[in-house]
Amino acid sequence: DIQKTLVLVKPDGVKKHICGEVISRFERKGLSIHAIKMINVPVELAEEHYAEHKGKGFFKALIDFITSGPVLAMVIEGENAVAAVRQINGATNPLEAVPGSIRGDFATSIDENVVHASDAPETAAREIALWFPELKK
Ligand code: CMP
Repeated sequence: DIQKTLVLVKPDGVKKHICGEVISRFERKGLSIHAIKMINVPVELAEEHYAEHKGKGFFKALIDFITSGPVLAMVIEGENAVAAVRQINGATNPLEAVPGSIRGDFATSIDENVVHASDAPETAAREIALWFPELKK
């Protein structure tokens, strides 16, 4: 079915000038950009977005990193968009991400892994509402 999912190009991806490359990979696969914006992430938004990781050892590093520079936030739409985007992104750990995936090709560490994408349709709904409250009607 047609789904929407939230994708972030994290500060390392923006600094590497690969926003266009990331978008191209989704578009080439037939997915569409439903909404898109550059955003300097407020700490409160970062903490809400990563609430499930609160208490973990890497939480502070995660928040520091995602707030360290501009992020490209987008809602990607298409057939099975949640799973399709996650396959294009590749595994969270770049050592496990296959060549040809975004992380396999560009990510250098698990902390700085270029992209984020929602992991399930329910997560996508929550994350889209969080990052794009202006889309709600
Ligand atoms: P992301 O998809 O944005 O969701 C949580 C992020 O935490 C993840 O990508 C990684 O960049 C980061 N992270 C850092 N350490 C770990 C870890 N040990 N396990 C999972 N995610 C981690």
